[in-house]
Parts: sequence; C-alpha cells; structure tokens
Amino acid sequence: MDFIQLTHTGSRPKAPKPSEVSLRFSEKAIEELNALLTHYPDKKSAMLPSLWIAQREYSGWLPAEALAEVAVRLERSYAEVEGVATFYTMYHPHHQPGKHLIEVCTCLSCHVCGAYRLADYLKEKLGVDWGETTTDGMFTLEEVECLDACDRAPVLQIGDEYFGPVTRQDVDALIDRLRATEGSTAVKLADEIVQTQLHKSEQSSG
Ligand code: FES
Repeated sequence: MDFIQLTHTGSRPKAPKPSEVSLRFSEKAIEELNALLTHYPDKKSAMLPSLWIAQREYSGWLPAEALAEVAVRLERSYAEVEGVATFYTMYHPHHQPGKHLIEVCTCLSCHVCGAYRLADYLKEKLGVDWGETTTDGMFTLEEVECLDACDRAPVLQIGDEYFGPVTRQDVDALIDRLRATEGSTAVKLADEIVQTQLHKSEQSSG
C-alpha cells in the first residue's frame, strides 16, 4: 500500500528573519500605515491595506521582500502574510506585472459578446499569452472573472478604469494611449486604493 506523502517537499521560500529584512517603505508609506493602524483593533486587521501600500511601494507587485516587510511591520508571521497575498488575485506576489495590467473578463456575458475574440486580438497584437508580459515591460495580459459590469460587455480593466463594450478599434486606441502614458497604471491603482482607504478611515473617525 502506498502512503500519501504529507510533508512539504516543494521549494517554497523560507520566511526571512525580521533582523534580515531590509525595510523599504517610504516616509509617506509609514505615515499612511500608522494612520491606518489607528482605525483597526489590532495590526493584523490592517493586513489588506498594508499589502496595498506594499504593492505600491514595491512598484506594483509583492516580492518576498515586500511580504517580509509587511510581516515585520504588522508583527505577523511571513506565512500568514503570504497566505493572504496569494489568496486575493488583485495582489501580485508571483511576478511583477508590466506598467499596464490589462485584465480581460471572459465570464458569461463578456464571453457571448466576443471576449475571447478580443483576447485573441490582444494576444496577437501584443505578442503575449495569458499571464505574460511584453518584452518591453509595458503590458501584462490577464484573464479575470466577472468585473461586475456585464451591461458593458465585453469589458477590460486597466488600472482603475473599466472599458466596455470594447471593439478591436478601441483596443488599438487604448494601446496607443497607454504607450504614451507616463508612469504605471498598476502602481496608480494601488495608490488610489490606499488613498480611498485612508479617506474612509478619516471619515469614520471624524
Ligand atoms: S461577465 Fe464580464 S463584466 Fe460580468
């Protein structure tokens, strides 16, 4: 009889010790985190906004160093922070997306309105498949679940903007516009979520 192997044999990275972590949060980020912490009963409860701050501070993704920094600042284990960051698809712990993350909804309404044809066009135009980034680091393409804008199908999300219904001509115009855009819509999205959270916190304390 074969026994099921329960011990972990993969190459999951070990949690760095706090003394080994190089803390990179800017002064602004530390101020924001401290402000947020005053509105939660304990540090653990601020995990999600802390990860957004980290995602902005680490250029739109959450490498092991970013997770370790959040773990140190919230006094939680690395594994706990990693578990949260890998559960929610809006956090990017595995790889850095391009400057512009193009998310294509392929759920039912978008599917019947041509989402896969649109995705094929995007893949061909950018030369990437799902989850890949263009060689110039500009665009990452992701397939996502319903974006809750089914009346505008087929829908794309780029940063904090929704676009729909989208045609091939719209894709051409969007790509041209993004190529001419300064900065990263992925980082901008993370910052806007942090600012929204801070604003809500101010309102609830005011
Ligand atoms: S199915 Fe695409 S937004 Fe709902």
